[in-house]
Amino acid sequence: MKFNKMAAFAACGALVASLGLFGCSGGQSSEGEQPAADAASYELINDGKLTIATSPDFPPFENLEGDEYVGFDIDLGKAIAEEMGLEAEFTTIQFDGIVPAIQAGGQADVGISGITVDPERAKSVDFTDPYYIADQSVAVMKGGDVTADNAKEALNVEGMIIAVQSGTTGETFAQENFPNATIQPYGNATDCFAAMQAGQANAVCMDMAVVDQMVSDAYTDAEVVLTEATGEEYAVAVSQDNPELLAAINEAIATLQENGTIDDLTAQWLG
Ligand code: ARG
Repeated sequence: MKFNKMAAFAACGALVASLGLFGCSGGQSSEGEQPAADAASYELINDGKLTIATSPDFPPFENLEGDEYVGFDIDLGKAIAEEMGLEAEFTTIQFDGIVPAIQAGGQADVGISGITVDPERAKSVDFTDPYYIADQSVAVMKGGDVTADNAKEALNVEGMIIAVQSGTTGETFAQENFPNATIQPYGNATDCFAAMQAGQANAVCMDMAVVDQMVSDAYTDAEVVLTEATGEEYAVAVSQDNPELLAAINEAIATLQENGTIDDLTAQWLG
């Protein structure tokens, strides 16, 4: 397909040269411009590779099994790379460092890490079209004073320690909704649950699918007491200096949406 596009472009150029025409209609190009999403038009840190920053502490989106990256975002990153004729390579960056790293450049081409689109982040990076909608949940250890019936009030009291991941929408959500509580940030998402189990925090506030997974898999002595439909959109973060890469990834996401790949991944990891 790419070959045909290039052949058509070359043929068009030949016609322009021989007949003295000024442009070609029907192609992606207008006068003097290269085709928009041509592979050569975007910058990559390593040729042939899509280098993806992720914080693998967030099952079922990204997690480590041994030293292997697994999860919805990992499979999505691989599928996007494949659509682009590239190989996906993952690199670990703590979540609150991903947007700054993409902005600074040099460490990764994109961030895929359950990153919610928000206006503040959009000042530093570009976001692709969204691929998932998320909500917030709060979990506590079973048998305590906070229950599903009283959670809204019972969490918003002095002395209540709510563990969150640093720099996340869960942190902001907890700060806004439980102003009387102490919001305790941890660098690593899974550490929030470990802290709660160890009695260093009373609750964890985080994206719903992750809380659900942690509670059903690793922390069966915890339970969800509150869920709020924040309707957050996850998207891929791309450097603002690389608009052609943004366009190519949007094209890949659109294909993966149309051909059912994203639905399949959702069923597999979040079903
Ligand atoms: N969706 C939330 C946010 O964007 C949390 C993402 C955390 N991701 C991670 N891999 N730990 O702030």
